[in-house]
Amino acid sequence: MSPVLKRTLGYFLPYWWLMLLSALFSLVVGAMDGAFAYLVEPVLKRIFAGHDTGIFLLVPVGIIILFLVRGISRYIYDVTIKLAGQKAIQDIRNDFYQQTIRQDMAFYNRQATGDLMSRMTNDITTMQEGMSQVVTGLFRDLISMVALLGVIFYRNWQLATISFIVFPLTIYPAQLIGKKIKHAAKRSLDVMGGLGTTMQETFSGIKVVKAFGVEEQVTQRFKQENLNFLHQFRRYIKYSSLATPVTELIVSLGIAAVVYVGGSQVMSGRMSPAELFSFIAAMIMLFTPVKKLQSSYNIVQRSAGAAERVFQTMDERRSIVDHADAVELGRVSGRVALRDVSFQYGDEPVLQGVNLTIEPGQMVALVGPSGSGKSTLAALLMRFYDVSHGVILLDGHDLREIRLASLNRQFALVDQETTLFNDTIANNIRYARPEATDEEVVAAATAAFAHEFILQLPDGYQTNIADRGTRLSGGQRQRLCIARALLKDAPILILDEATSALDTESEKMVQQALDNLMQNRTTFVIAHRLSTVLHADQIVVLEQGQVVEVGSHADLVAGSGLYSRLHALQFRDQEQLDQGLPA
Ligand SMILES: Nc1ncnc2c1ncn2[C@@H]1O[C@H](COP(=O)(O)OP(=O)(O)OP(=O)(O)O)[C@@H](O)[C@H]1O
Ligand SMILES: [Mg+2]
Repeated sequence: MSPVLKRTLGYFLPYWWLMLLSALFSLVVGAMDGAFAYLVEPVLKRIFAGHDTGIFLLVPVGIIILFLVRGISRYIYDVTIKLAGQKAIQDIRNDFYQQTIRQDMAFYNRQATGDLMSRMTNDITTMQEGMSQVVTGLFRDLISMVALLGVIFYRNWQLATISFIVFPLTIYPAQLIGKKIKHAAKRSLDVMGGLGTTMQETFSGIKVVKAFGVEEQVTQRFKQENLNFLHQFRRYIKYSSLATPVTELIVSLGIAAVVYVGGSQVMSGRMSPAELFSFIAAMIMLFTPVKKLQSSYNIVQRSAGAAERVFQTMDERRSIVDHADAVELGRVSGRVALRDVSFQYGDEPVLQGVNLTIEPGQMVALVGPSGSGKSTLAALLMRFYDVSHGVILLDGHDLREIRLASLNRQFALVDQETTLFNDTIANNIRYARPEATDEEVVAAATAAFAHEFILQLPDGYQTNIADRGTRLSGGQRQRLCIARALLKDAPILILDEATSALDTESEKMVQQALDNLMQNRTTFVIAHRLSTVLHADQIVVLEQGQVVEVGSHADLVAGSGLYSRLHALQFRDQEQLDQGLPA
């Protein structure tokens, strides 16, 4: 058995008792069918014989009882197998999510969200559909196959042997078709992933779609991908429909051989016609389980195709992991040092030879043109990625030698992208520290100048941010993110354009709150507006991934480097703004 199948079945194993129950009751259903067929003969005989009316009355009652037992068994069989399948699928989905959410940032740079979601829904469902059906079906079909084989060999072992030469012949085409089915299933799921990505991107970017009026274009793209899915799935349909006729054709060879050999035996008087008749009947009946086994095999192949995609994602290797001898850090003092740090996402270097030393409690400003590597530098500090060269030290420890969970506790981040979750305002703030009290949440919101606008929302702190009518403005979202970071109360604070969406007035207020917060904390501030970093202890100027200047505002303005040029530009703009002149 292939490793993928073994692993899939492993998910069903904990529910073996449900599967067993289901298999047992499927046997009862089969037995009832057999009993019904068997009873037809004696009952009819008695009715036609015309006496013994007592038994005649029992017949309708018997039929009802038979079907009652059959109905109950069928119900139990159905419920248990579906339950087992759903339980297994639930475990797979949990594992998938758990593995995926722990992946490092590099994984998420590679993976499209829509494709991940499609794997989690479509692929896992496809996986389960096949497996639960097959596990009991296999059992039932094998049993009836063995029974019928018994009849065949009991009747005439020589004939049975002849016909049996044929059955192995069905294996090769079955395998060939199975392989094709697996590929087709995998490809169609690939395309489905692309479809998911298109949907995810266009629905979440609906504003841009509307603003640029590209509904028609994205619809065309969607239709094209959807058509592509149909093409891929058509291959699956073709192959899986091919399986039965091919098997039947080959099996008919066996029947033809039996008719020929058996027929001549009957003619030469070595076998009775009734014997041959019953033999052929059993062989034809054998058709059904054999065909079912074949289609089960195909369903298994399809599941395997889906399972391969699912496990492949689950097994993606993480590069950011705890080393065996990683240390657990308590609250750090916040000394950060970068020694000759270089980094690249792909082939292009993004940071080159960066050397910095930041003392505990210092405020460091990272400035520089867009794309110069400021956000990347911040990501490296939190070990979202490992440096390509050099080392980053936190309180003297190489980041790679620190337990990830304890490293994570040292940082609070307000990101360029103001990410909030579909939850209440309070819970969004509490993300930073789930055990925080309501008072602490309110205190954080107050410090971030968010308290007032929160109180004006329909349900205050209990307002769900995704509810109708509670669309937050960019600045409001930013203040919630700041409150969240404040609540975390970490020794190192990273503010990536944290106040960019605020007007001058609220920026001043939030800035005050941040200034208070920066006391006794190492803070990295990334800002385009230089006015927010005037009093930084160090201003680090990045250009194309290299540190071109380091110093205080006074030092740098006095020089003639990039900073003084940027400052001159912004200063002039500000003056024009102050005088009400167009920039
Ligand atoms: N996830 C990523 N994968 C590949 N390249 C990336 C990734 N993120 C950023 N880059 C590249 O790295 C360089 C630095 O990006 P970064 O986001 O660090 O710039 P930045 O200084 O923060 O710019 P901005 O001021 O616009 O936010 C850019 O050239 C960008 O294209
Ligand atoms: Mg950035």
